[in-house]
Amino acid sequence: MDGTFQAANPSSTEQPPLRELAADPLITRDYEARPALVYESLRARHGAVAPVDLLGVPVWLALGYAEVLEVLQNRGRVWSKRLDAWRDYAEGRVPRDWPLLPALEVDHVVFQEGRRLEELRGAYHAALRPFQDPSSPQAGELRAATARYADELIDVITEGGDSGFADLSAQYARPLPLMVVDRLLGFANGADEEVLMDMWRVLDAGPDSGPALERLLSALAGLAAAKMTRPGEDFPSYMLAARPEFTVDELSRELMMLVAVAGDFPGVLISNTVVEVINGGAGARESLSSGLIRETVNRVVMANPPMANLTMRCPSTDVRLGGRLIRAGEPVMLSVAAAHADPAFTGGADPSRSDRVYQTRAHLAWGAGPHHCLGVGLATMIVEIAIERLFSRFGALSLTLPSDQLPWRSSPLMRGLRSLPVRYRVAPRPAQAAPAPRPAPADPGAPPASAVSQPEQSRSALWRFLRGLRRGGR
Ligand code: HEM
Repeated sequence: MDGTFQAANPSSTEQPPLRELAADPLITRDYEARPALVYESLRARHGAVAPVDLLGVPVWLALGYAEVLEVLQNRGRVWSKRLDAWRDYAEGRVPRDWPLLPALEVDHVVFQEGRRLEELRGAYHAALRPFQDPSSPQAGELRAATARYADELIDVITEGGDSGFADLSAQYARPLPLMVVDRLLGFANGADEEVLMDMWRVLDAGPDSGPALERLLSALAGLAAAKMTRPGEDFPSYMLAARPEFTVDELSRELMMLVAVAGDFPGVLISNTVVEVINGGAGARESLSSGLIRETVNRVVMANPPMANLTMRCPSTDVRLGGRLIRAGEPVMLSVAAAHADPAFTGGADPSRSDRVYQTRAHLAWGAGPHHCLGVGLATMIVEIAIERLFSRFGALSLTLPSDQLPWRSSPLMRGLRSLPVRYRVAPRPAQAAPAPRPAPADPGAPPASAVSQPEQSRSALWRFLRGLRRGGR
């Protein structure tokens, strides 16, 4: 495979269009419980690219590693993420109430191509650099703040006693990245407290998510407008510095993208990593015990990528992919999770196979090519600190459910836990414990040192909510 796309003969008639093919529903109870089995069954029946019914809409699902990589790399510039490249959508055949539409009909970086994509990615790259470049002071402050947030969350969990029960998803993995995003956004004067709770309500897509989304969009628009006149040392201001022509509307859409991705996916990865470490799966516990948290996270994204399936791409002309004819405008969803299980990637039962492309770091969990993730440094920083603080503060953690009964959030795109119920025991404090990282004194956005042990002073809504979740008990 040389990575260049193969144009198909446009007059080819050997295969009917996607919408006329028989396709099995992808999202079933089996998928929610054991998606790997569903991918394997599709691979066995259809090969590297399968027609599936995605909540009532026909799409191709690319399951092969080589095919997913080929589309991601897009060397022939034939694949587009723009929604108007999808023929059924452009011609009105996608029902208006299709559940994935709200996530796709958003005009931000993820669904751009060409010059606009390059411009927006350039702004992200510049705006994230101060937080992702380990040598910059902001990155150091953010690391210290993240460790402090992690310790504050653990303090609340353990208020009920040195041992007990907790839901590490709701009480730790989900709020931590939201607290980091909240800090990146740079709201002034604690206006962010309710915004943070609204971010959570929106990401949970529960009954109160509609009004929460309206409040959130209005808060982000207000923030974007405020940063145009009073810039600070924060993500929106750096975006504006990199691309001054942003309108309030455009910038607030990108801020919403930051909330949706950076506020949610690191939490998914924290929970998945905790489960792997507790179970000792995929060599994770061994990696952690030798201090190699980065390697642990790497193993986890390979075994269980948080973005299991990527939003669709459509070709601008008929192409061949994995032996299939994909007609211009037909949507292809890329399954990173299935690609990671492809025997051509893993080596299957025979590690000496000549087509084996497995390498520890050749995974696709951060994407690849022109849409490759721009926040890898930030995401791994949050996850590594979260795991380090958790396994330092707790001497024992065990699941209270067998791992095959853990409840998963229902999503065709993401593989994340709905809850992570554990029993914990606090680790004995070392005789001379190192002091918890404190905010740099010059940081005006950080709470005073006295607030570190009293987080409710600065985050009462969040802390009231988290205290309501405490299970305590011995
Ligand atoms: C565990 C956490 C994360 C995972 C697993 C992840 C994974 C990914 C993947 C797979 C893509 C490619 C999507 C595609 O090609 O369709 C992507 C894109 C992106 N990610 Fe991340 N990401 C994470 C966290 C973050 C964070 C913290 C940021 C910070 C801002 C971020 C910013 C972006 C952006 C801006 C894009 C869009 C790039 C584009 O479409 O050109 N990500 N991410």
